[in-house]
Amino acid sequence: MASLELKKIIKDFGETRVIHGVDLQVDDGEFVVFVGPSGCGKSTLLRLICGLEHASSGDIFLEGERVNDVRAADRGLAMVFQSYALYPHMTVYQNMAFGLENMGLPKAAIKAKVGEAAKLLRLDTLLERKPTQLSGGQRQRVAIGRAIVREPKIFLFDEPLSNLDAELRVSMRSEITGLHRRLGSTMIYVTHDQVEAMTMADKIVVLRQGRIEQVGSPLELYNRPANRFVAGFIGSPQMNFLPVRSEAGSRLATTFGTAFSLDIESGLAEGKTYMLGVRPEHLSLEESPGALSLALKVVEVEQLGGHCLIYGMLPDGNTRITLHCEGQQSTQIGDAVVVYAPPANCHLFEKDGEERTIR
Ligand SMILES: Nc1ncnc2c1ncn2[C@@H]1O[C@H](COP(=O)(O)OP(=O)(O)O)[C@@H](O)[C@H]1O
Ligand SMILES: [Mg+2]
Repeated sequence: MASLELKKIIKDFGETRVIHGVDLQVDDGEFVVFVGPSGCGKSTLLRLICGLEHASSGDIFLEGERVNDVRAADRGLAMVFQSYALYPHMTVYQNMAFGLENMGLPKAAIKAKVGEAAKLLRLDTLLERKPTQLSGGQRQRVAIGRAIVREPKIFLFDEPLSNLDAELRVSMRSEITGLHRRLGSTMIYVTHDQVEAMTMADKIVVLRQGRIEQVGSPLELYNRPANRFVAGFIGSPQMNFLPVRSEAGSRLATTFGTAFSLDIESGLAEGKTYMLGVRPEHLSLEESPGALSLALKVVEVEQLGGHCLIYGMLPDGNTRITLHCEGQQSTQIGDAVVVYAPPANCHLFEKDGEERTIR
């Protein structure tokens, strides 16, 4: 178990800066998820932490000690990769024992550690198999087992479930969080999948283009996204966005619907354009007092049984709005509907710069 701190970490590859000054605190025993689109620097950040890459500047502290110049092998961390990286000619047992043999551990101690990890991961009956004789999920468990036997200070996972099919991903998700609960270890988990981030993390770090956009618990990010990027990235289907104009008395108007009021402490400058955000699950076909109403032409309906997704087009013929309704709806493609957004569930963002959240 260990804490980790990154201070002003910068990483350049040649002329290209890929990490732009990252500050981050990971507490002892926390499950932290780095999430962000492909290419935003998640793997690079993880490789910097475990010592496979060297920071161009900035400091990395492990349990309060600066480890910039400590070799990867001596940092006491273990990384689990998407590709499993198992040795194909070795059995499950040998794959898990290999690292310990290299460390010169006695045979009996290795046997005990591998046995314990195998039991924890339900691999105890598979120890004599080769990787090709295992399913994808079993292979991933061997890769995790190999990390566990080393008793690392921190577990680092780089998209470990990306190669698994959808059903297996869901069950492996809870296996990994269950493992975290049992071991109580600090874990850093990288994914581009916001559902994985939401369901697994104590703390989510949202990255974009080598910068941290926001750090917070899953519900903090969902309820109070710091900017439009986080708002759009967290939540599925994605939050709807449409431009609004401020009028006198902090009222907001959109060319697509009725004017409405949002309670904004600082008030709003008049005549400015903002971006309004409302999540599909917060839009309703039922009228509510003071709500923004939007007239839509339905372009697609997805009946999922327990709920229904309705996709509508605003009169500009360009802005699509998604609505999540509970249960089953009779709405059809081509219908004209009015949807309502209660002000309490509306977010408001600056339209330029960082697209910061105003509310
Ligand atoms: N060894 C490298 N040399 C040059 N550029 C790299 C190298 N590794 C990663 N990059 C670049 O750094 C950026 C971040 O990559 P990466 O950390 O792999 O992103 P992610 O894991 O979030 O998809 C990308 O633009 C990628 O092309
Ligand atoms: Mg990556």
